[in-house]
Amino acid sequence: MRVSSKVKELLKEHGWPAREVYFDLENSNWVPREVVEAILPFFNERGYGHPSVTHKPGWEALEEVYLTKELVAKTIGAADLDEISFTHSGTEANNLAILGFIAKKDNRRRGGKIVVSAVEHLSVIFPAEYASQLFGLKMQRVPVDEYGFVDPELFKYYVDRDTLLVSIQLVNHEVGSIQKLKELVDVAKSANPNVVFHTDAADAYSWIPIDVERLHVDMMTISSHKIHGPRGVGALYVRNEVLLEPPLKGQLSVEKLWPGVENVPLIAGFRKAIEISFKGFEHRVSYVKALRDKLMNGIVSGIPEVLVNGPLNKGRVANNVNVSFLRIEGEALTVELSLHGIYVSSGSACSSRILEPSHVLLAIGRKREEAHGSILFKLSQYHRESDVDYALETIPKAVERLRAISSWKSC
Ligand SMILES: Cc1ncc(COP(=O)(O)O)c(C=O)c1O
Repeated sequence: MRVSSKVKELLKEHGWPAREVYFDLENSNWVPREVVEAILPFFNERGYGHPSVTHKPGWEALEEVYLTKELVAKTIGAADLDEISFTHSGTEANNLAILGFIAKKDNRRRGGKIVVSAVEHLSVIFPAEYASQLFGLKMQRVPVDEYGFVDPELFKYYVDRDTLLVSIQLVNHEVGSIQKLKELVDVAKSANPNVVFHTDAADAYSWIPIDVERLHVDMMTISSHKIHGPRGVGALYVRNEVLLEPPLKGQLSVEKLWPGVENVPLIAGFRKAIEISFKGFEHRVSYVKALRDKLMNGIVSGIPEVLVNGPLNKGRVANNVNVSFLRIEGEALTVELSLHGIYVSSGSACSSRILEPSHVLLAIGRKREEAHGSILFKLSQYHRESDVDYALETIPKAVERLRAISSWKSC
């Protein structure tokens, strides 16, 4: 196993942790055995053919792609499975929605402005910026309140006859705010019935009930590894009336919007992960919510100088805990905790490859030094109460140790 030399040295000194709990589900996930077992046959036993080709391995592949589309459509309330397109990630699905919509000349006749929220994932913000530069459009970012919510009253001022596309996520990936999306869609569509509304639901799918018809959204993104499926599969729902221009060029296969052969083994894994997540949906969500509350309340009541990032309870997704430990560098805490087998991520500027503090934390009004001390935990049905207990035993000691040795100065 290759680890950065700093962590490697520390691990040599401390030894490998006796117990490990992975809470970094925001960044990626382990894939449960039953999902792996659903994937494996598609490498060499069945369905290994190209899904567009007319022979048995191709038909089997095609069947798997359609079974997964059918399940995605059913779980989001889409009327037609042809409204689902697979991509190779959530990032690609967001790019397809935004660049694909703007690249189509007829769509650009609807207006000259793209509106996104200030807390979107970068796979929404960057393509929106790129599309607006490329085609000379205006781009506006709607601010959020201290909990990460877009205020529908304020949003009214951002949508007008010139707005052609809006992208606002359903659940924030860092601070867990569940947007009042239906209200926002209604505001947008009453200001301009021609507006097309995209939502990034990567962090909402399987955590809150979704019905694209009720929400009246036109496009929606989901991603497999956000629900313990394999990395490398995303999907975009596109309402039949909305037309896109494929932003990537190449051979189109089953997907008419995204070229390249479908990754059928991973699509099969995605299907299994969806089946698992939607079986006993309500029980699973309330189980995880209880773990979330225990972890969040335990941290807040057991450690001084802690800020909760995002909503305290109401309007917070069941699996998200995000807190800032003041007078601490989040990156240092991720390393310290990892020596004890607790794996988390930080919205810190100094955190390895990302040079700026999280734009989400800044958008909810956190100061840079508060953002630097943030730690994000994500939970799932695979966590046990004893994992949370172990975290609650370990974190206070780690925070105390770091505070004791630091003459803390934000980087
Ligand atoms: C809200 C949100 N959108 C999009 C993505 C991108 O998905 P993927 O990692 O599959 O590219 C993520 C991933 O973290 C996310 O949290």
